[in-house]
Amino acid sequence: MASRITKAVIPAAGLGTRFLPATKAMPKEMLPVVDKPAIQYVVEEAVAAGLTDVLMITGRNKSALENHFDRVGELEATLERKGDTERLQKVNYSTDLADVHYVRQGDPKGLGHAVLRARMHVGNEPFAVLLGDDIIDARDILLSRMIEVQAERNANVVALLEVDPAVAQMYGIATVERTDDDDVVCITGLVEKPAPGTAPSNLAIIGRYVLRPEIFDVLEETPPGKGGEIQLTDALQALAADESIAGGVYGVVFRGRRYDTGDRLDYIKAIVQLAVDREDLGEGLRPWLRDFVSKME
Ligand code: UTP
Repeated sequence: MASRITKAVIPAAGLGTRFLPATKAMPKEMLPVVDKPAIQYVVEEAVAAGLTDVLMITGRNKSALENHFDRVGELEATLERKGDTERLQKVNYSTDLADVHYVRQGDPKGLGHAVLRARMHVGNEPFAVLLGDDIIDARDILLSRMIEVQAERNANVVALLEVDPAVAQMYGIATVERTDDDDVVCITGLVEKPAPGTAPSNLAIIGRYVLRPEIFDVLEETPPGKGGEIQLTDALQALAADESIAGGVYGVVFRGRRYDTGDRLDYIKAIVQLAVDREDLGEGLRPWLRDFVSKME
């Protein structure tokens, strides 16, 4: 019997070079998407899927992250004095959201290296990995389906998204076979950032994984790959190539809305897409946006 998953690991130790200079003194995961830092959406998603034990892998400038999920006495006291209960609730909400733990990565030697830092905390049970700059729209279901598939198949599960072949070189790309489930594929091979024109499919791994703990042993043995970094995709390729290690690797094909906030263009799109549907902002934004676009044309 596969055990029930309770732990979420959120790597947030990357340098965020695509977003410089904004990320010079602040992790990219703290960039606001409308009025919440990207990472709060990610923690909310983990909690909504039942994962309330959150381990963040942090790097330099980690204090902004820690402060966001901690009490801020002075701010709370000021809002209380002013009787601003609505904003006070917003402040307390992020503090009380989950049981958040932190571990430092040291040098950012790659996503695989970051995940390996979770070994002590996770122990010998399956766990989820959610990338701290990747937002899945809360209206679309992904993580809970992945947890279900992990339990059913007692294997490793990644999230896959169909991408334009022109951008396949930015992702880990999967070779797949169909299964009995429409939204689930069996992964027979994985390649990280394939050279242009060599991608084996248009199914890209996005930032959600539900993994068995055997991944840690594999990561220990994984040499640096693309970009000189220890790649999680390379460790997953080893698991896909030998089912006897940890039951192989499956992909849940996601057809919902996903925003890569580590990419500047996607970040701007995320803010617009999320704000137009917001009750408090949409009414003001939509007519302005229509007018703006019509004048542009
Ligand atoms: P990215 O490749 O998007 O992060 O990693 P990056 O290296 O910070 O980005 P750029 O290309 O320089 O702009 C995906 C996720 O993995 C984390 C990042 O914080 C991000 O959430 N990560 C990456 C780590 O935690 N440690 C690493 O060594 C690398």
